[in-house]
Amino acid sequence: MTTAQLQALDLLLIVLSTALWSTAAVMTASMRAQSGRRRGAAALSCVVAAVSVTLGRVAVVALLVGRGWWFAGEKVLVSLPLAILTCGLAAIVAIPFLRRASAGTVAERNQPGAAAAVFAAAYASAGGLLVAFVVGYPVSVVAALAIVALVGGLSGLTWLGLSARRRPGLAALCAVLCVVPVLTSAAIAFYADIQPVVIGNAAGAHNHLAAGSGSAGVGAEVPGMRSVSVGDLRTPAEYPGPVRRFELTARQQTVTLPSGRTVDGWTFGSLPGPEIRVEQGDLVEVTVYNADIPDGVTVHWHGYRVPNGEDGVAGVTQDAIRPGGSFVYRFVAKDVGTYWYHAHQVSSEAVSRGLFGALVVVSKDNAPAGQLSTAMDLVATVHTINGTTMVGGTDLVDTQRVLPGSPLRLRLINTDSVPQRISVTGAGFTVAAVDGANLNAPTPLVGQVVRIPAGGRFDLSLTMPTGQVTLGVEGAPETGMLLVPDEPPPADRAIAPFVDRPDLDLLSYGTTSVVPGMTSTAVNEEATLVLDRQFRFLNGVPTLSQTVNGDVHPHVPPIAVREGDLLRLTVVNRGSDTHPMHPHGHRVLVESRDGVPITGSPLWLDTFDVRPGEVWQVLLRADNPGIWMAHCHNLEHATQGMVVHLAYAGVTTPFTLGGVADNRPE
Ligand code: C2O
Ligand code: CU
Repeated sequence: MTTAQLQALDLLLIVLSTALWSTAAVMTASMRAQSGRRRGAAALSCVVAAVSVTLGRVAVVALLVGRGWWFAGEKVLVSLPLAILTCGLAAIVAIPFLRRASAGTVAERNQPGAAAAVFAAAYASAGGLLVAFVVGYPVSVVAALAIVALVGGLSGLTWLGLSARRRPGLAALCAVLCVVPVLTSAAIAFYADIQPVVIGNAAGAHNHLAAGSGSAGVGAEVPGMRSVSVGDLRTPAEYPGPVRRFELTARQQTVTLPSGRTVDGWTFGSLPGPEIRVEQGDLVEVTVYNADIPDGVTVHWHGYRVPNGEDGVAGVTQDAIRPGGSFVYRFVAKDVGTYWYHAHQVSSEAVSRGLFGALVVVSKDNAPAGQLSTAMDLVATVHTINGTTMVGGTDLVDTQRVLPGSPLRLRLINTDSVPQRISVTGAGFTVAAVDGANLNAPTPLVGQVVRIPAGGRFDLSLTMPTGQVTLGVEGAPETGMLLVPDEPPPADRAIAPFVDRPDLDLLSYGTTSVVPGMTSTAVNEEATLVLDRQFRFLNGVPTLSQTVNGDVHPHVPPIAVREGDLLRLTVVNRGSDTHPMHPHGHRVLVESRDGVPITGSPLWLDTFDVRPGEVWQVLLRADNPGIWMAHCHNLEHATQGMVVHLAYAGVTTPFTLGGVADNRPE
């Protein structure tokens, strides 16, 4: 069974045991002499079933421990002890009573105790759900104590009620146990949430959330550490090489799509925005204007290793550009490959409404695109706006004529918040590059589906055959791409069906090779991110949030690095959603997934999908000082808290979240 299935099974068993204990409790309490035989027998079988389900949970949790302590910590420490304790009590007190009852001899005098014990087991069982969604990992001690107190208090009140005893002192104590710890724990969480946060790691703390240690802490300050502001981490004014200038103006725009549908977009003039294509070694200078986006705008260069001050994150590396304002971004195009740019102020809304475009850097000896009749280089963004999926600029099929025999590079960019599965039929292909980085000796594929994480890019390379090639997107039958061998032009309503095949697994694709310097023995810093879904205060409001190590943005302690560090990042997904994790300003080298080392080409990614129950280990070379966002690129999840920062020791930022500029990066 997969880890995700085990986690789901555990939840199911919690619900089942709660239902069984509750039924047994109600039956036990409502038993009368005349109905004793039947009810007693039924309640007894419910109790026996509930006990076995609880034992089943013990087995499932033991298996989860085997998958990693992250998946089971709070169960082992809190919910199972509570369940086992109450289960034992119920078994000792209730089973003998129910035996006698089913034999026809109800000893009324023992009934309240027996029923209360079964109720206690029901409360403890239900408490397991609270533990799963409130305590989480690492165990929040305050929340755990509050739940234990609540179960104890409710059990006591139930016993007093059933036995009709007048013990006001005890009743008051139980009531206090029910209410005070819960309120205190909520108040503490609320207070922590409204505290102002200073983003970054100016003091030079180390990571204390190493694998399984379960606590975040702050290290000692480093004497004599150099301090620098993100505002100073910009591209120098002088550049000896060619400068390429672009302008992007963000505006509200009603766009009529080729199908005739209209959408209320926010665009950089078109949907998608203009493609920025430069040669390696160019200095790219982009002036961004905000015509009338009320929330403000910034531009982030997704996957591109720019200086921190050019990273375009509102509230971290700059203030959002207000309507009428502008900002000039400058960076040297050092890396070749396929990237993209997008707004990083209210990004979840801004990107989906259209504030994005492709960024392509080709090497000097590549002929410029456009004039390439025999070596075509096509970009296809896959984007869903208002429920309509578009490939490139169309929600219909993008048809391109290609000379048979010509080599073709197809740059696929997933600008959505969920993975996209894409099929190519009619020709074999290789995945030449992922997230801009070339793969080592990729082998030809036929009819395989590529699953591109949210924010990820796949460059496919193929040779145009004499027949047509179709590119289909799962779940979007109206759109796609059709490559036709020269004349005749295709029928006016072309289709490009998605053909379902197994997904290509990049971790075993291509040929292995050693990457100098990136070995596990060179690792000198470790950090673990445990991703989950938990009830937390989010901007002061209790929300089912997306958490990192039990916290939500901006309260997640940063991943601390010093320049030159080799960081091993372990990312654990305890939730039930896929999390495409994206560190800014760096790319990571994949080491392993679920403990299995990578066997294919070295894989440099800037966006990697951590699916439910998965554990990824990746290496990151800290070679680009700054304060870098690292977040889930399901941008909804980012707004729900799944954001952390990769913070270099000594780097500070003059910008803040909120404030006059109303910076809201997610
Ligand atoms: Cu594609 Cu934080 O970004
Ligand atoms: Cu996510």
